[in-house]
Amino acid sequence: MKVAGTHYRTIWLNEDGWSVDLIDQRWLPHDFRVENVRTVEGIATAIRDMWVRGAPLIGVTAAYGVAIRMREDPSDASLDGVWETLHATRPTAINLRWALDAMRATLRPLPESERAAAAYARAAEIADEDVELNRAIGRHGLAIIKEIAARKKPGEPVNILTHCNAGWLATVDYGTATAPIYLSSEEGLPVHVYVDETRPRNQGAHLTAWEMAGHGVPHTLIVDNAGGHLMQHDMIDMVIVGTDRTTAHGDVCNKIGTYLKALAAKDNSVPFYVALPSPTIDWTVRDGVKEIPIEERSEDEVSLVWGRTESGEITQVRISPEMTPAANPAFDVTPARLVTGLITERGVAKASADGLLDLFPEKAAA
Ligand code: MRU
Repeated sequence: MKVAGTHYRTIWLNEDGWSVDLIDQRWLPHDFRVENVRTVEGIATAIRDMWVRGAPLIGVTAAYGVAIRMREDPSDASLDGVWETLHATRPTAINLRWALDAMRATLRPLPESERAAAAYARAAEIADEDVELNRAIGRHGLAIIKEIAARKKPGEPVNILTHCNAGWLATVDYGTATAPIYLSSEEGLPVHVYVDETRPRNQGAHLTAWEMAGHGVPHTLIVDNAGGHLMQHDMIDMVIVGTDRTTAHGDVCNKIGTYLKALAAKDNSVPFYVALPSPTIDWTVRDGVKEIPIEERSEDEVSLVWGRTESGEITQVRISPEMTPAANPAFDVTPARLVTGLITERGVAKASADGLLDLFPEKAAA
């Protein structure tokens, strides 16, 4: 995706050939900053403190973390150690474990002398694959948007509601939920996006709105509580969100607040789609509500809000009394029965065990 005319991925290898450059998302939309990360500790901080975030990008960042460690020490103990260190950074998004497992499976059989080069090659491959998966998701999602557009008056936009940021910034490029939106807009199909602000960290207001504005997609920022009202008044044609982990039975874990959007969508017969690359499917989990670990983040994310003052300073302000405690579960689970379809790189699946296995039959034996 382009920022001020220059194409950027969200993460790339520095020109030194071994350290990693990434967009530090904490400062967006007010400041575009790129950080150079040179240690595993730096990679762990970037994931834990959300310089990078979004399930697919967390996975790719961790893969590069393994590569950095292999350059320093390619032993088995070091490979297991870096797996543990990075796996502990954020518990919910399954792409993190998927990428760490993929790296370890590639590297373990190799002699130590070959591990560093192989690790960088595998990390680059995982990053490139992410881009391809998102492009494919975009094509399948575009077909759905076209179907909805065909039922509207000529020129009338398809109104799409999205939650959090499942955009370019949550992946290496294109995004998952945003890929069909970008393709529609490239094809001249009129789309308009309602962007949930997504408290507490405001990924919608900070990141999705910035992406939409940067790519010239008509959009409107709404508070998280507005979606149900808009659906009751026929102002939303479809919802598309991303996911941090989807179970083998089609339950969808995503940013806190997604479940409430799905309930409102069901009550108003608004189609509710989830866009996901297959590394986001956790084939080992059946019941998302009972089995997926939900990350609890700092109270500060609820009590303090980041913004830019009129003088241009990017700072936090407190919005609640000092003595008021806050709770901050970062994700929730939308049961499969509320999901219209799962838009994957292989097509649109029913949110059910059979639906997913129809598209991924090789997982039946697992
Ligand atoms: O806490 P975050 O910002 O990492 O949460 C991100 C989301 O919930 C996204 O919707 C999800 O990771 C899908 S990204 C393609």
